[in-house]
Amino acid sequence: MVYLDNNATTPVDPRVAEKMAGFLKEHFGNPSSLYPIGRKAKEIVTESREAVAGFLGAHRSEITFTGSGTEADNFALSGVLDANPDKNEIVTSVFEHPAVLETARYLEKKGVKVSYVPVDKTGLIDLDFLRDAVTPRTALVSIMHANNEIGTIQPIRDVVRIAHDKGALVHTDAVQTFGKIEVNADKLGVDLLTVSAHKVYGPKGIGALYIRRSTNIRPFLHGGHQERGLRAGTENTSGIVGFGEAVRILADRWKKDKDRIEKLADRLKTGIEEKIPKVRFNGHPEKRVKSTLNFAFPGLEAEAILLALATKEIYVSTGSACSEDSDEASYVLLAIGLRPEIARSCIRMSLGRFSTDEDVEVVLHELPGIVEKLRKISAFDPLP
Ligand SMILES: Cc1ncc(COP(=O)(O)O)c(C=O)c1O
Repeated sequence: MVYLDNNATTPVDPRVAEKMAGFLKEHFGNPSSLYPIGRKAKEIVTESREAVAGFLGAHRSEITFTGSGTEADNFALSGVLDANPDKNEIVTSVFEHPAVLETARYLEKKGVKVSYVPVDKTGLIDLDFLRDAVTPRTALVSIMHANNEIGTIQPIRDVVRIAHDKGALVHTDAVQTFGKIEVNADKLGVDLLTVSAHKVYGPKGIGALYIRRSTNIRPFLHGGHQERGLRAGTENTSGIVGFGEAVRILADRWKKDKDRIEKLADRLKTGIEEKIPKVRFNGHPEKRVKSTLNFAFPGLEAEAILLALATKEIYVSTGSACSEDSDEASYVLLAIGLRPEIARSCIRMSLGRFSTDEDVEVVLHELPGIVEKLRKISAFDPLP
């Protein structure tokens, strides 16, 4: 199998799986219980919190574990708005992940004014638009650190400067940069930041929201006092343990991995551009997460390419996993100005820790023939 969909999810690192299995067998205690097995569970949860915090350049009290990256995004937007009743506006971008975009739309229905910052054809947000959109009534600006489909990295420090000038808080969804490039909450200057374990070789169903100390936010789940009262519910202890271990492994090797993965991705990119006529690369030439490659194959339907590759056990994506079963063109690709028929021809390949030289060779061997064959039978003019 050649797995090139690491932006959708990553394989669990075997060391993470082992750590979780060991924990599940030995530590069933409730972290809220005061006797030793409860205290032990709490201690292990704290160690994981410290690992996640350390990797983000934060303090453990600034990390709230959540049920997913999606939950962390929901929490950030609605939690900040609810805690600031005198402010009724948020600013986000047109091509955020649905976890932010759909929350923004939900809030809009409840009367919140939402401004959607457009992006240029490389996927960079329009900072002038942002500057005009942020007002003294803006509670929060939420701009993703890097886009999941094309990998463009946003100028978050500029966003922070603009927002803080007008007294607005800043949230960034760093799910697609965490573990791939440096993600340091202090250096970025953000007030809130979302991460998710299953994109960094950890388990699914566990994420975290970084909340800078003294940030005014309303609790997300009401009940017990877990997560400092911000997110009630008995902790997903094994998930948290897995997240902690995944981050410890990242801390040890992310830079080395980054160099290797980027070289592989560059080889794949160059090979595709050399071997396949008329492909178009989507995204920013420099400011991007380099393990993400998004290509248009004009004249073809991406799904046909995806299915043909799948018969060779090569797994790629047509965009965000959430829109995979929809016929509509990706809103991310439309936002960067692609025509719908071009957007529907786009394939995303995302490499990761377990990607190999051989994977790249296999794709470069199989893909050109698949594209050529599909172009021959395509009803569209293949090379307009
Ligand atoms: C940018 C971004 N934000 C949020 C999420 C959601 O994270 P989770 O799958 O943990 O809910 C994803 C996952 O695809 C993502 O890519």
